[in-house]
Amino acid sequence: MARRPEHIAPPEVFYNEEEARKYTHSSRMMDIQAQMCERSLELLLLPEDQSCFLLDIGCGSGLSGTVLDEQGHIWVGLDISQAMLNVAVDRAVDGDLIHGDMGQGMPFRAGSFDGAVSISALQWLCNADKKSHNPVKRLETFFTSLFACLSRTARAVFQFYPENSEQIDLLTTQAMKAGFYGGVVVDYPNSAKAKKFFLVLMTGGDMPMPKAVGADSENSTISYTAQRQHFKQLRGKSLKKSRDWILEKKERRRRQGKDTRDDTKYTGRKRSKKF
Ligand SMILES: C[S@@+](CC[C@H](N)C(=O)[O-])C[C@H]1O[C@@H](n2cnc3c(N)ncnc32)[C@H](O)[C@@H]1O
Repeated sequence: MARRPEHIAPPEVFYNEEEARKYTHSSRMMDIQAQMCERSLELLLLPEDQSCFLLDIGCGSGLSGTVLDEQGHIWVGLDISQAMLNVAVDRAVDGDLIHGDMGQGMPFRAGSFDGAVSISALQWLCNADKKSHNPVKRLETFFTSLFACLSRTARAVFQFYPENSEQIDLLTTQAMKAGFYGGVVVDYPNSAKAKKFFLVLMTGGDMPMPKAVGADSENSTISYTAQRQHFKQLRGKSLKKSRDWILEKKERRRRQGKDTRDDTKYTGRKRSKKF
């Protein structure tokens, strides 16, 4: 099986000049980026016949941006690879380009964007490329700053390639903690080749999740609203040191790969006072 690019090198190293050129001239990549961006725009549910101000996260050489241009939107793209951005400049894309690392947060004013898309980039953030990288912290910084720079009716849609279900859990948990509602839509869930994952995030409260394409049941839409309600309830009350609080903390430690004792019926039980 081919190695995942994010396991080969950090994105700014992997997408060097040669890779950026190869990537942008591959008709397969062009097709995938265009199709995934079109589908993400559908899932954004933008007002019809209106030009919107959008953010493209991990915009690369602007293949996804070309679709945003074609559909009449104004956009800003952010990417960590200077080589990819250079190709975007050569291709004379219409969007404004920013060189930056999404793990360090979105450097934009509050409420700036009507929506955000991100095509094939989010899975990179689950990796620790440097000793100083803590994926959980970087995701927290990313989602919190993204929530802030979106308008209060906006959505963000990420087409991504999760490595396993723990990664989907990690991403959705961090997004919900940052204030988003939403979940994951899986198109063509029964096809190994066509299956695609979209994380659909909403800033403006709990709305019905969009339907997946190519699915014969509703099982391919996973809404994390229940989880969000759960966190909300946790926030409302002072639940520190409660069973829920402890279980959630232990779960987080496990996700970070830290040694954590098994849960038992005694976890979080109040101890009687010693005299
Ligand atoms: C598969 S490419 C997709 C590019 C783009 N959507 C397009 O249409 O050309 C993934 C992109 O994500 C970018 N990326 C990965 N990690 C990033 C990070 N931490 N911050 C910003 N961009 C990142 C990579 O540099 C790369 O350009």
